[in-house]
Amino acid sequence: MSRLEEALRDSADEVNRALLELLPNANDTIGRLTDAMRYATLAGGKRLRPFFVLSGADLFEVPRAWSMPTAAAIEMVHTYSLVHDDLPAMDDDDLRRGQPTCHVKFDDATAILAGDSLLTLAFQVIAAPDGHPDAAVRADLGHALATAAGALGMAGGQVMDLAAEHQSFDLEAVIRLQQLKTGALFGFCCEAGAIMARADEAARRALRSYAANIGLAFQIADDLLDHEGDEAALGKAVGKDAAAGKATFVELLGAEEARRRADRLAGEAVAALALFGDKAALLCEAAHYIVSR
Ligand code: IPE
Ligand code: IPE
Ligand code: MG
Ligand code: MG
Ligand code: MG
Repeated sequence: MSRLEEALRDSADEVNRALLELLPNANDTIGRLTDAMRYATLAGGKRLRPFFVLSGADLFEVPRAWSMPTAAAIEMVHTYSLVHDDLPAMDDDDLRRGQPTCHVKFDDATAILAGDSLLTLAFQVIAAPDGHPDAAVRADLGHALATAAGALGMAGGQVMDLAAEHQSFDLEAVIRLQQLKTGALFGFCCEAGAIMARADEAARRALRSYAANIGLAFQIADDLLDHEGDEAALGKAVGKDAAAGKATFVELLGAEEARRRADRLAGEAVAALALFGDKAALLCEAAHYIVSR
């Protein structure tokens, strides 16, 4: 196992322990909702976004006790986005993280409410005073996450993604779509440690540039996997983008050129971190891992 694989495994274990503690567990009528939240969140998943939060925070030696709430929170927001993405009104998928999607296991209404509750819990966790000790930092983190997840971030990207089924998008539009749909949350993850450490603008700019490149590279890899991946290995349906007639990088550029572009973006991500030197070695490896998975 490579150093990166070990680091990914260790950070996923830590994040899973934190999520287990943070997720509510009701045993009355509300139990159906909390069961659905736990089902969707604890099912697996690569825990990549929390890894970027924790690794970004490590660059500035931010203590784990301060960075973990944000790492767990971003996984809650991501999981909510997947639960809603899979609903019949959106991608209508039955398989997620190797098991039936939340609305299939429970029902549509419960899945909608589980997504709502995960999104809300994320902000509860970030704002809680037992996380980062500086209330102004907690407010900045909440503000940045809200910006990344909202109408001008991930949710807006999802709207563009749905429009891409019946509108013909050129490359520029697809790049914007992907920057919003996937890149915005990655951007938050990579910058969160700098927010926690009140790092200078140069560091923040470098991390934003790293994130913009890996965010796009990650979504190209996801599109390639949809195009040529294996359902059992991925734990989700494949071939959906082409079936929906969606404009993606793969559709516009062809698989080979899309892969080349993803590799180039990974290289640019690595270059953006030069000012951190060896401290950023793990993040550099992660940029290449994202496109080769
Ligand atoms: C899938 O994200 C959704 C996209 C934004 C492409 P991941 O591939 O990170 O999904 P999990 O968390 O590992 O299930
Ligand atoms: C989902 O994108 C992105 C978000 C949930 C924000 P996709 O629809 O491509 O993700 P998969 O392929 O279902 O995981
Ligand atoms: Mg989708
Ligand atoms: Mg989908
Ligand atoms: Mg996809």
